[in-house]
Amino acid sequence: MSFDDWQERYELGIPEIDRDHRILFDLIGQLHDAHAAGHGVERLDYVFQVLHDYVQTHFAHEEALFAASGYAQAEPHKQAHRRFTGELDGLYRHYRAAGNPRICIELLGMLNNWWHFHVLEDDAEFGRQWRQAHPPQIQRSSTDSRLE
Ligand SMILES: [Fe+2]
Ligand SMILES: [Fe+2]
Repeated sequence: MSFDDWQERYELGIPEIDRDHRILFDLIGQLHDAHAAGHGVERLDYVFQVLHDYVQTHFAHEEALFAASGYAQAEPHKQAHRRFTGELDGLYRHYRAAGNPRICIELLGMLNNWWHFHVLEDDAEFGRQWRQAHPPQIQRSSTDSRLE
C-alpha cells in the first residue's frame, strides 16, 4: 500500500523546493510502506529519523528563499514550520520512548495533514508569489540575434 503518486499539481515551479518536496513525499511513502508491511521499530525509526532531519533541511531552504524574495507571509509561514517541528519532535520523542509502531499511525496522519494543508496550501501560495516575482526568462534563440 503506497502513500500516493507524485502529481504535477504538487510542483511549485521552484526547482530547489520541488526537489525537497519530492524527497519528503518519497520518505512519507517509505514510512507508509514500512508501517503497512509491519516492519519493526528499527526500520521505522530509521525512516522517521531521516524524514525528521530532512524536514529541517527543507524548512531552512524554503525560509532562505522567503528572505531573498520579500515574501509577505514569511513570518506566519515560519511560525507554521516551527509549530510542525515542535509536533514532529514531540511525536518522535514519544515514539522512541514507547518504541511502539502504533504511534506511526498518528505520525502518518500528521504528515498527511501537513502535506495537504501546508505544502499544498501555504507553500503553494508562496510558489504563486514567487512565480509572479520571478517570471520565466524568455530564451533568445540564435535566430533572434540574426534578425537584429
Ligand atoms: Fe515546503
Ligand atoms: Fe513551508
